[in-house]
Amino acid sequence: ATNRTFTMIKPDAVKDGHTGAIIKQIEEAGFRIVALKKTQLTGERAGQFYAVHIERPFYKDLCAYMSSGTIVPMILEKENAVADFRKLIGATNPAQAEEGTIRKLFAKSIEANAIHGSDSDENATIEGSFFFANMEQY
Ligand code: CMP
Repeated sequence: ATNRTFTMIKPDAVKDGHTGAIIKQIEEAGFRIVALKKTQLTGERAGQFYAVHIERPFYKDLCAYMSSGTIVPMILEKENAVADFRKLIGATNPAQAEEGTIRKLFAKSIEANAIHGSDSDENATIEGSFFFANMEQY
């Protein structure tokens, strides 16, 4: 079925000028952009977004990194969106990401890994609503 996923281009990739190349790769893979903007998280809002990771040793660093610069959040639509998008971006750790994946091409480290992809339909909805009102989703 056609469904949606949520993604954001992370501060390292935006700073390095990879926004256009990443969006091109996403569209060429058949995803339709439902919502898109450029914004910046505060440390507090990053903490809310990543609340599921609050007990992880990398949580504090992750929140500092994710609020260190602008990001480009997007809602995307495609057949089998969540799983297909995770294939397109590759493994969390770029050292383990497959050739041609967005993280293999643009990620710098396991933390500064260029892009986010929701891990379930449920989280895609929650994460998408974190950034976009219903009337911003077309
Ligand atoms: P993502 O999977 O989009 O969401 C959780 C993020 O935490 C992940 O991307 C990385 O940016 C970061 N992350 C995950 N694992 C680690 C780790 N072991 N060390 C540092 N950062 C991590």
